[in-house]
Amino acid sequence: MTMQLDSSGKLRHLITLEGLDKPLLERLIDRAEGYLTTPGDCPPNGSPFAGRSVANLFFEPSTRTRSSFELAAKRLGLHVLNLDVRTSSRTKGESILDTIYTLEAMACDVFVLRDSEPGLPDFIMRNVEPWVSVLSAGEADRNHPTQGLLDMLTMRRHKRDFSQLSVSIVGDILHSRVAHSAAHALKTLGVGQLRLIAPESLMPGTGEFLGAERHTRLETGIAGADVIMTLRIQKERMNSASIPDSESYFQQYGLTPERLALAKPDAIVMHPGPMNRGTEIASEVADGPQSVIREQVTNGVATRMAVMMTVLETLHGN
Ligand code: CP
Repeated sequence: MTMQLDSSGKLRHLITLEGLDKPLLERLIDRAEGYLTTPGDCPPNGSPFAGRSVANLFFEPSTRTRSSFELAAKRLGLHVLNLDVRTSSRTKGESILDTIYTLEAMACDVFVLRDSEPGLPDFIMRNVEPWVSVLSAGEADRNHPTQGLLDMLTMRRHKRDFSQLSVSIVGDILHSRVAHSAAHALKTLGVGQLRLIAPESLMPGTGEFLGAERHTRLETGIAGADVIMTLRIQKERMNSASIPDSESYFQQYGLTPERLALAKPDAIVMHPGPMNRGTEIASEVADGPQSVIREQVTNGVATRMAVMMTVLETLHGN
């Protein structure tokens, strides 16, 4: 996805982690780590880009991503516009591109975009002004690049060397943009082993998961794992007949304390959220000592600060 980079190879848009090289991913993760503050301390307030504007356009629901993009922007001193899609003129038939052009005319510099339609971030990226950046906040079942980066930051802070890691992704991998972005990043960062655990109906094809081990039994898939990433069943991307029953799914694929004991004793448990407790994860695990789920949320704000600073530097210099 070379269009994400400008002519000198600097990141200008971020719509997928696929194709971004290891040094760039590492720079983004390093930069995000630099924005982490001690809990209780006052986070950063301002940047050389104070006064520039970010528009959040979320055409699918979100708690973490939308809030963290907003907080990240505000901590950099940026203005934030949260377009309320339900009351916007899109309900009167205005196209997404006309919506973008309208906000560009109000001098929005960065568009943060979430939509269920595949290909939309790429389409917008190809049609914006040269001084504008497009950041994907989740594209259908394909990409969630800032989630992928925050997940890598979280893993690296606990485990350091990706080449020594065995990472197990459990659940509805087929429909998960989180899993797709994690797979892109893990491959580039040289993960030792990637295992996919899912029922056949939720197992993806090869593509970005080429080389991953595949398991239909949770117990074998998490044995000896360093990192377990659990995923929500993406009911919104399935027809109702194919949605698994929550209770029987939990019996086979729910991450319980007993099953977690099969992983390495210092394994970390991740979940991008939102969680369905009692479906893919037991509360004792979600709230237990091996869970880093809330750290992921914290790391999300720092990651989005790093990404926004990076693209603003590309567009407007230091
Ligand atoms: N992880 C994630 O994308 O969460 P939200 O849907 O709440 O943004």
